[in-house]
Amino acid sequence: MLSPNSRIPPPPPPTDQLPPAILVFIIGMETGYSLIYTVLLLALVSHLLMRRQHRRKTQGKVKLPPGSMGWPYIGETLHLYSQDPNVFFATKQKRYGEIFKTHLLGCPCVMLASPEAARFVLVTQAHLFKPTYPRSKEWMIGPWALFFHQGDYHMRLRRLVQSSLAPDTLRGLVPDIEAIVISMLDPWDGRVINTFHEMKKFSFDVGILTVFGGRLEERYKQELKRNYFIIDKGYNSFPTNIPGTLFHKAIQARTRLRKKLSEIMNERRKKAGVEKDLLGCLMNSPEHLSADQISDNIIGVLFAAQDTTASVLTWILKYIQDNPELLEAVKEEQMRIHETNGYGSQPLTWTQTRSMVLTHRVILESLRMASIISFTFREAVADVEYKGYLIPKGWKVMPLFRNIHHNPELFHDPQKFDPSRFKTPPKPNTFLPFGNGVHACPGNELAKLEMFVLIHHLVTKYRWEVVGSQSEIEYGPFPVPKHGLPAKFWRASTTTTTTTSSSNSGGGAQR
Ligand code: HEM
Repeated sequence: MLSPNSRIPPPPPPTDQLPPAILVFIIGMETGYSLIYTVLLLALVSHLLMRRQHRRKTQGKVKLPPGSMGWPYIGETLHLYSQDPNVFFATKQKRYGEIFKTHLLGCPCVMLASPEAARFVLVTQAHLFKPTYPRSKEWMIGPWALFFHQGDYHMRLRRLVQSSLAPDTLRGLVPDIEAIVISMLDPWDGRVINTFHEMKKFSFDVGILTVFGGRLEERYKQELKRNYFIIDKGYNSFPTNIPGTLFHKAIQARTRLRKKLSEIMNERRKKAGVEKDLLGCLMNSPEHLSADQISDNIIGVLFAAQDTTASVLTWILKYIQDNPELLEAVKEEQMRIHETNGYGSQPLTWTQTRSMVLTHRVILESLRMASIISFTFREAVADVEYKGYLIPKGWKVMPLFRNIHHNPELFHDPQKFDPSRFKTPPKPNTFLPFGNGVHACPGNELAKLEMFVLIHHLVTKYRWEVVGSQSEIEYGPFPVPKHGLPAKFWRASTTTTTTTSSSNSGGGAQR
């Protein structure tokens, strides 16, 4: 069995998921202490500890970054959650500059909003900053998933995941992704669709394809889908393992999902083929991974792939719908390919997806504008000095991708949706929608491929109109247009898709 460089904690019992503050709260309630007494005591102790630590650090040569730590223990968490988080970070940056401290969710944090700082944390000094996630999330996905690790174990796992997402493998997935898109769009004609929900189903189906290849039995697909979506609902819920809660249901669903994965692995073993999908890469690896290591990484990839891709796809639909001229230009680019393919009688090819120059710029600009992963979390494993400031060991460190993407010195008129800015490649380390360095997203090309295929079929055959509010945003946790962008879709008239649409014969999307 492959062993990681750092000891993996066994999955903690469910109450272990609770942050110390909540544990103290519950203990206080159970033993009869008043809630106020418990909270005040906790706040006082944590305030004194913080002040002592702060004094010790600032007495040395290097000082802590500027910023404010807010209230004892709760820090500035309420400020963050009472407004658009992007406004919170942008206001801080305006006031304190590109490096500042704060205190969120019980943790002292240093925020970094410059390309150089993001590179320092994620690339050049990545060994000094380990990935950090709430324990409840680590437990839900599985402690062996690669993104919880650093060093040798992480690199070896990453290589396996990357090999299942290599260009050669992706090229072979184009027909399957196209088939998924076609069958998804077919029933949309004349209906109001919750765009984000549909995009989630789409990115999940592509995730299943990537993990298990195209031949997974339907009954397994349905079982995986049913349980995965229960986990998905509980994933961001309050972590209390009490029957009836979303979190409890998610834990039960995870156990069932794990069982199904074992059955699929057993069947795969009997077949003894060498598959190139993720399951094949993990099972056939010379590393001899355990069943838990394989399952945790499969669940991890499904999670990493789904909401991210679905949110960006939802934004793309909104951005191009909001810019009619741009939509026409994208349609023109896609119609040329559609015509070459006999109006859908020939399948889309990998090479054609590589030739969609304008569509590619639209995708890049959507990734920048929406910046759905606004920041990432790391934890300093030692005291680190950066530009004369101290980042103390144990503090959370957050490179702020969104602030970088919306900095007018790096992207002119950053609030404007302007794909033409990508005619020139962005300066190094300024465009980080997929992160950077050792943990950068290995699924970026797959995500873009999904976008190319979907945009192709959508703009060549459908029109759509957003229903209701168009400007508000909700966070779940990634930003998406309010209510998932409900929109009415209808099939474009045959005159727009030209007369030969009736010649569509198999493999194509037109009726
Ligand atoms: C638009 C879609 C996507 C976006 C914006 C996105 C973004 C990111 C970012 C920013 C990271 C780095 C996080 C960090 O450094 O803490 C990351 C990591 C990761 N992503 Fe994606 N991702 C997307 C789609 C996908 C897809 C489709 C897959 C898989 C099929 C995937 C799999 C992963 C994995 C496994 C990691 C962890 C890598 C590691 O720790 O070495 N992502 N993603």
